[in-house]
Amino acid sequence: MPKEVISSSVIKRLPRYYRFLGELIKQGVTRISSRELSEKMCSTASQIRQDLNCFGGFGQQGYGYNVLELHEEIGKILGVDRNYKAILIGAGNLGKAIALHIDFSKRGCSLIGIFDSNSSIWGQDVAGIKISPASELDSFCLSEKPEIAVLCIPKQNAQQIANRLVNLGIKAFWNFSHYDLRIDYKEIVVENVHLGDSFLTLTYGLTTLINKAQ
Ligand code: NAI
Repeated sequence: MPKEVISSSVIKRLPRYYRFLGELIKQGVTRISSRELSEKMCSTASQIRQDLNCFGGFGQQGYGYNVLELHEEIGKILGVDRNYKAILIGAGNLGKAIALHIDFSKRGCSLIGIFDSNSSIWGQDVAGIKISPASELDSFCLSEKPEIAVLCIPKQNAQQIANRLVNLGIKAFWNFSHYDLRIDYKEIVVENVHLGDSFLTLTYGLTTLINKAQ
């Protein structure tokens, strides 16, 4: 496990290592060198060795990495062995898509509740969970004690609901609401997701490519 503070850029790369290693396990690969892994991941062998060394270096000279072991260790670092409990707020287009298409269990988490303020969708089944009234959040959180909230509500409602959820014991927000949540509480983790930012990274790459060719 890490002994020092790890840079956020290394931490951001860990889920990708985890995903690639998971694919290798499915393909029956048991060990891999940093060079082979770098080719698959379009990275460099030295980047991979440097990144994994931050966590104590899992590889062995001349042997490479034990895929299963490395996958498990990175999983532990990422917390996928913790079985966190998550709730989702806002079961509109995006919330439903996330509930249906994100495999929370593969990521060490169970989605245990979905809440919305719109009475016309209460009781609807999404991913095997019935949408509940947002007014039931308090009693649900007090009894089930979820740690994570996925916010798929409009921007103008995000801060207010986040404050309410912090008071109900939520420790981490996966926030899609287009509002960069500033939780005025210590010890709260926020991951603001903007798919549009990812698109701009793409257009940056395209612009650079076109500029080079000119
Ligand atoms: P939508 O209108 O289909 O769904 C929003 C849902 O939130 C509705 O069912 C509404 O009743 C519910 N809601 C509103 N306030 C609530 C509250 N206080 N408590 C509980 N439920 C509440 O909208 P859609 O398309 O699902 O998008 C949701 C939000 O996500 C929007 O603000 C949109 O801009 C944003 N979005 C963000 C993306 C990203 O990359 N971060 C990508 C796509 C959408």
